[in-house]
Amino acid sequence: MPEAPFPLAEAPVNEAVRALLARASVPPRQLHDPAPDAAALSLAVAAAARAPDHGWLRPWRFVGIQGEDRAKFGDLLAQAMQARAPDTPEARLELERLKPLRSPLLVAAGAAIRAHPKIPAWEQEATAAAGIMNFINALDAMGFGCCWLSSPALQDLSIKAALGFAETDRLLGWIYVGTPEAERPRPERPAPQGFWRDWQPA
Ligand SMILES: Cc1cc2nc3c(=O)[nH]c(=O)nc-3n(C[C@H](O)[C@H](O)[C@H](O)COP(=O)(O)O)c2cc1C
Repeated sequence: MPEAPFPLAEAPVNEAVRALLARASVPPRQLHDPAPDAAALSLAVAAAARAPDHGWLRPWRFVGIQGEDRAKFGDLLAQAMQARAPDTPEARLELERLKPLRSPLLVAAGAAIRAHPKIPAWEQEATAAAGIMNFINALDAMGFGCCWLSSPALQDLSIKAALGFAETDRLLGWIYVGTPEAERPRPERPAPQGFWRDWQPA
């Protein structure tokens, strides 16, 4: 039987889908001032809160770190790294200390996890992660750039506490945010056909 054509290939592309298809990460050091203002961030968080959310548990949590607070947070990251691994060379600690300074806004993004008889933690994390992607897509569509990074500090209890997350919550990523160069790279993606197939009943 000939393969069915990929269902999206011929679809007309509206503005919203065009924005989704153009999104690409921007490395933190290529993100400059200005950071999104409160109005833009509010729109992005509102987009996050459009993610599917089983039981309406509202797990999305975003903590913004800007201006001089980035250096203070960098100090905490370095202290936490040293506490986790006391033999860490000073040069590596310094790299950790400087991380938040790479872009004008660093967002700690996570999930507030509640004990629930029917909705396990993974579903709440999935809702929060989907929200993070909406947050990033919204900022990207508004002309900002983002980069979602991880690091061992996401699991560090002292860092979670400093950011106001409970031990049972989940920190899901560091989102570096700022304004990219106008001519930012948007690398090609693999063809969508590779990620889709119609189920063939046995
Ligand atoms: C949960 C999560 C954690 C990530 N952590 C890292 C990371 O620590 N380092 C890294 O280089 N990319 C990381 N990435 C991937 C980048 O965000 C980005 O997707 C990658 O650089 C490719 O760029 P693209 O988004 O334009 O495809 C992470 C992505 C996700 C979703």
